[in-house]
Amino acid sequence: MQTLTVVGAGRLGGSVARLAHLSGQYQVLDVVGRRPEPLRLACEFIGAGRATTDLGRLRPADFYLLSVPDGEIASCAGELAAAAVMPAGCVAFHASGAGEAALLAPLAERGVLTASLHPAFSFADPGRAVADFAGTLCALEGDEEACLRLEALARALGGQPFRLAPGGKAAYHAGLSVASNFLVALTAMAQQLTACAGVPAELAQPLLGGLMRQTLENALALGPRDALTGPIVRGDVGTVERHLAALGDAELAAAYRALGRQTVALAGDRLSDPVRRRLLALLY
Ligand SMILES: NC(=O)c1ccc[n+]([C@@H]2O[C@H](COP(=O)([O-])OP(=O)(O)OC[C@H]3O[C@@H](n4cnc5c(N)ncnc54)[C@H](OP(=O)(O)O)[C@@H]3O)[C@@H](O)[C@H]2O)c1
Repeated sequence: MQTLTVVGAGRLGGSVARLAHLSGQYQVLDVVGRRPEPLRLACEFIGAGRATTDLGRLRPADFYLLSVPDGEIASCAGELAAAAVMPAGCVAFHASGAGEAALLAPLAERGVLTASLHPAFSFADPGRAVADFAGTLCALEGDEEACLRLEALARALGGQPFRLAPGGKAAYHAGLSVASNFLVALTAMAQQLTACAGVPAELAQPLLGGLMRQTLENALALGPRDALTGPIVRGDVGTVERHLAALGDAELAAAYRALGRQTVALAGDRLSDPVRRRLLALLY
């Protein structure tokens, strides 16, 4: 059986260790943290592992997960490298969405195979996370051999691994942020506009929610280009002009213009050249 040590047994680290233990394919070896009581609780939750606060006492393992907060991954890797406890050829990985495997450079310099494995999943409540994890997509990048071994680990956890292009981590995470955070920001923008039009707050939710759900379903099912409807793709320059006149808030108008230009690009050859030029003149 392969062995896994977890450094930082918080929401993700505790959940991944529990899933690895439940898989029956990995033995959770050491569980590392800074405070004894949370560590004891983490080991209780995982159902395995020896709690320790001392990096110098770590036993040799096949995998080391550095599941500390993003801002602490690099320094934690430095401390682990200085402790010189990891055998050459083992795999060290972190789970940051934005950070590359290169955050673990001090370990790579000592012959450790380094990678990142990002599950696109929220581990807010570890108990529920363990129950719901099956099928989660897990983005992998880093050393080729480390990625191969982590593909097997991700599958054992119940996840679906896939690879990112080298250097693609920041663009990957930006994509997730656009899909998730900007959707929320768009909801707020739309609510601000319907409030200006006098739509009561209790009606804004069903009014916008129904349209947003239907549009998202269409965009996912048909693809964004074919799902696109509305004044821009129809070439309705007058309506776009009236929208812009109604946008009192300068920040809102700037966001409308930027997204409008993206929409013109998406409409592509569904717009004639003269209409595209008139729209872009309004939107710049
Ligand atoms: N949570 C999610 O939904 C999620 C999803 C995908 C990826 N991730 C990634 O997973 C990683 C961990 O996130 P998280 O949400 O699990 O964080 P978290 O719940 O805050 O857990 C972090 C853990 O690391 C411990 N820790 C901090 N510094 C340490 C150090 N120097 N040595 C040993 N342990 C240390 C903390 O202990 P203390 O309590 O003593 O500070 C805590 O137990 C991050 O890279 C994050 O981007 C998280």
